[in-house]
Amino acid sequence: MCGIIGYVGEKNLIKVLINGLKKLEYRGYDSSGVAILSGGKIFRHRAVGKILEMEKTLPRKFFSPVEKEKLKIGLAHTRWATHGRPSEENAHPHIDCGEQFVLVHNGIIENYLELKTKLKKHKFQSETDTEIIVHLVEEIYEKTRNVLESLNTVFKEVKGSYAIVLICVNEPGKIFFARKDSPLVLGIGNNENFVASDIPAMLEYTNKFIFLENGDYGFVTDREVKIYNLKNNIEQVRKEHKINWDPVMVERAGYKHFMLKEIYEQPLVVKENIVSRIFAEEINFKDEIKINDKKLKQIKKIFIIACGTSYHAGLVGKYFIEKFAKIPVEVDIASEFRYRDPLIEKDTLVIFISQSGETADTLASLSLVKEYKITTLGICNVIGSTLYREADSTIYTKCGPEIGVASTKAFTGQLVCLYLFGLYLAKIKSVVDKDEYKNLLTSLYKIPAFMEQILNDTNQIKILAKKYSQKHDFLFLGRGINYPIALEGALKLKEISYIHAEGYPAGEMKHGPIALIDKDMPVVVIATKGSLMEKIFSNLEEAKSRNAKIIALINKGSVTKNIDEKVLLPEVEEQFSPLVNVLPLQLLAYYAADILKRDVDQPRNLAKSVTVE
Ligand code: M6R
Repeated sequence: MCGIIGYVGEKNLIKVLINGLKKLEYRGYDSSGVAILSGGKIFRHRAVGKILEMEKTLPRKFFSPVEKEKLKIGLAHTRWATHGRPSEENAHPHIDCGEQFVLVHNGIIENYLELKTKLKKHKFQSETDTEIIVHLVEEIYEKTRNVLESLNTVFKEVKGSYAIVLICVNEPGKIFFARKDSPLVLGIGNNENFVASDIPAMLEYTNKFIFLENGDYGFVTDREVKIYNLKNNIEQVRKEHKINWDPVMVERAGYKHFMLKEIYEQPLVVKENIVSRIFAEEINFKDEIKINDKKLKQIKKIFIIACGTSYHAGLVGKYFIEKFAKIPVEVDIASEFRYRDPLIEKDTLVIFISQSGETADTLASLSLVKEYKITTLGICNVIGSTLYREADSTIYTKCGPEIGVASTKAFTGQLVCLYLFGLYLAKIKSVVDKDEYKNLLTSLYKIPAFMEQILNDTNQIKILAKKYSQKHDFLFLGRGINYPIALEGALKLKEISYIHAEGYPAGEMKHGPIALIDKDMPVVVIATKGSLMEKIFSNLEEAKSRNAKIIALINKGSVTKNIDEKVLLPEVEEQFSPLVNVLPLQLLAYYAADILKRDVDQPRNLAKSVTVE
């Protein structure tokens, strides 16, 4: 939530800041702002709405900082409002009373009201928690006359989560930063440096990054990087990571939206995850899983913790791992898990799934589990993110950057990692029959081609979207390993098209939701071939008897009685059918949202990484 970029170097400052900000727009888009240092003064410009609104109204001076200034320095922010409505006054950057400091922030300051009462002599211009920090820095700086020392003291006074980037007129070549529980990455260039919330903002200029850790603070100049940590206040040496993402990966590449591009990337994501981990019919996680086989064999229980779409992936994982690795799995929503005093015994493995690796509730759950000294495993799409670094081991989902707020390729990446991990465990525990293991791997290999088949002909889905996008409520039904896919189909539809949708286990329908059904209710039923197909066909019939419009995902040769709209899908191994069945549901949501002229990649009220509680 909220995107930050800071730059010091000789490039076209405003271009670097605005372009960087646009790459971070997925993190929030209520308002945005930019500040530069020129001629010893801070110039700031802010606007409500998307970054384009701010860019359109930028005054001329932002394009031509004082001529003699070769070195350019500035920062920018795109906001997802927490404290204070989206308005120009509440937009970042924020400035102190003496206009010596300018600051941007991502996170939440929990004790801001208490701090505000201590800062009575300061004049506040916004309703935000962030503005407190800049005044607090000003207050402390009056005594210390040292920005680093002031930041260190701020750390001790402020409660909550923050990634802060700050410029001080008295130290004009430096961009100061501090982080606790909100992500911040340094981009290392040649005679230039960057500070940003996420890699895509800097990818056009560098592929060398330093991921700041909790408690880190310091500064960058165009040639220098200094990092200290609150625990001992001495200079830290942090590893520089080379990320081989191509800047083109964060472009739309001719697709109308990032979401559509990312839907189409899924066969490749699945293929990448499989071929890089299967050698001579054996699954190998090489350096990813650092838990030895003896320990893995002893695992008696698994928890899977995640939010949103990642939680749905975890539910699929439960069905699969229990079936093949014969280990009981409990799946929890992170915001519930962290507050429910879970009973975690030794010989438990806790898996955390997160595309971003920065979701606040997931990370809080990780900290909690680490206190119990229990083995943790991350499944994550961002190398260097907090989850990636802090879990004992992490499996990388190999999707490349996911920009659309609605998660698609990250979901299928997570599924394939869970499948591979489940089979890997089953093999280590010797609880899977050799032939069955081999057959499952063979079936998994075939999945990308089936996914491509669906994506090559999306006409039937487009027609459905057109026909049903004016409906107000949808019901999605699934059973067994496809029940989580019903949940995911409903989540996709509601988050980008704003059509109300519920996902339900089909067998549970007569315990309540069937009362909702009438002729205006489209019911999407996942009825592809598998062990529960007959059962789901009975549920489909029950819905039809109440006049529902039935949209059914089926395979060739299935009965079509009672079905109003059939979506014909290739027949695949039941266990892997979620990888295939989710595609038409993602597409249905996408086309419905597009027809309704919704902002597909940046739906209202949402942000890509939920870095606050
Ligand atoms: O980055 P994470 O996987 O931890 O994010 C979790 C959810 O915020 C995310 O999946 C969200 O539900 C998506 N908008 C769903 O499309």
